[in-house]
Amino acid sequence: MASKATIYLDTNRVISPISPLLFSGFAEHMGRMIYEGIYEPDSPHADENGLRKDVLEALRELNYRAIRYPGGNFLSGYRWEDGVGPKDQRPKRRDLAWQSTETNEFGTNEFIEFCKKIKTEPMFGVNMGTGTIQDAANLVEYCNAPVGTKYADLRASHGYKEPHKVKYWCVGNEMDGPWQIGHLDAPEYGAKAREAAKMMRWHDRDIKLVLCGSSNSQMPTYPEWDRTVLEYAWENIDYHSLHYYAGNNENDTASFLAMSAEFEAFVGTLEGTLRYVKAKRRSKHDVYLSWDEWNVWYKARLVHDVEGGWGKAPHLIEEIYNLEDALVVAQWMNVFLRKSDVLKIACLAQAVNVIAPILTTKDAMLKQSIYYPFMLFSKLASGTALDVAVKAPEYNTKLFGDMPLLDVSASYDEATNGHAIFIVNRSQTESITVDLNWQDRAPKSINNVYQLAGTDPKLANTYESPNNVISVKVASPTINGKTSTITLPPLSFTAIETSL
Ligand code: AHR
Repeated sequence: MASKATIYLDTNRVISPISPLLFSGFAEHMGRMIYEGIYEPDSPHADENGLRKDVLEALRELNYRAIRYPGGNFLSGYRWEDGVGPKDQRPKRRDLAWQSTETNEFGTNEFIEFCKKIKTEPMFGVNMGTGTIQDAANLVEYCNAPVGTKYADLRASHGYKEPHKVKYWCVGNEMDGPWQIGHLDAPEYGAKAREAAKMMRWHDRDIKLVLCGSSNSQMPTYPEWDRTVLEYAWENIDYHSLHYYAGNNENDTASFLAMSAEFEAFVGTLEGTLRYVKAKRRSKHDVYLSWDEWNVWYKARLVHDVEGGWGKAPHLIEEIYNLEDALVVAQWMNVFLRKSDVLKIACLAQAVNVIAPILTTKDAMLKQSIYYPFMLFSKLASGTALDVAVKAPEYNTKLFGDMPLLDVSASYDEATNGHAIFIVNRSQTESITVDLNWQDRAPKSINNVYQLAGTDPKLANTYESPNNVISVKVASPTINGKTSTITLPPLSFTAIETSL
């Protein structure tokens, strides 16, 4: 017999408007993300600019609102001027971060064209490792200034008279990490980021800037790094970043499926840090969080210094995603909605081949399990996030103690007058019968119910068998007065779409 649970929903109990930028991505010059991922002129799927049409189509379906580029650790050794202008004059360079050869065939303007094709906003990073604050400011001038001065004119000479109007800018990448090229201590980075941000904004008052926060919640410098750099740069930046990669190294699926506890605690601590710094600085300015690298990543780890063997587009960290990974991704996105008052940007790392929802060979493409929860959230979550109350049975985990078997978030959009409800059943064995209790208004109809489920947490999609872990439409429950009842299978993610 299935266990019972109740989810209470009330459209008046609003957490915050949902920032569409929570459904963003990340594309680094790393492995086969750019080359062979999105850009592959000799693929049978390439368009006139060398972009993979099949990949563009799949990325459009994910509806990324922004994509962060060009790194990642690559960013901290990148000279942006290498990647603009006539392709035959661009230098080949050694990329020290991933020990690969960077041909620079793809750079700033190619990325802008790619973004236009999938209707997403570019989110550029500036190099705070080997780069100077002047280089950072020059790139903003190159992208955003009207013609008439050196770097804007350089852009025009490359075929782009009109400014690109790039709004979102990351001031460096993971500068707290000793692995980062040009890694800095917190006061050094805080001061450099502040000065870079000042110059960048003086070129364009409309840009939004993201400061580098902790690379993960296990960093020895966390959360002191965050407090320090925020104190230096508070008034000059708009967002503070956090990164995290989750893993199931111990093959402890019960704990892995409860990872939202860790994600929520990480956001909670940084939220407290933002409040502390704002109060200490007696500031009226607000800074929000940008979770600009997040994903499951533990199976395809690298041993540093032996990564790319100096090849072009080597196979690096091509993680294969299974059912349990997709359920962790789904609850991560539940956390985005539950924390939507402070979390305004989130970039799934990465987009193609490198720890990605999409894999490619020269002539084929595969959607991995994590593709589906991302697609459903990106498509259905809009308007405001609702503060749902959940009564569910608990189970015990080694890492997080007792946890509810259900992980839930919901949204309500006034424009469409509909709910979206997202539910993960973490149980590996039990179905759960859930009463959806519509506390204020019951919907007129439950339009669609999408579900991803399976019996084997390790099952993954393959080129031969691409539909092993996908979301499918299942029967909508009926509405009986103020309740609808739905039974959720074990190891499942369900997305419910209603009309009020
Ligand atoms: O996404 C892979 C790498 O993970 C990024 O380059 C870096 O920022 C992080 O450590």
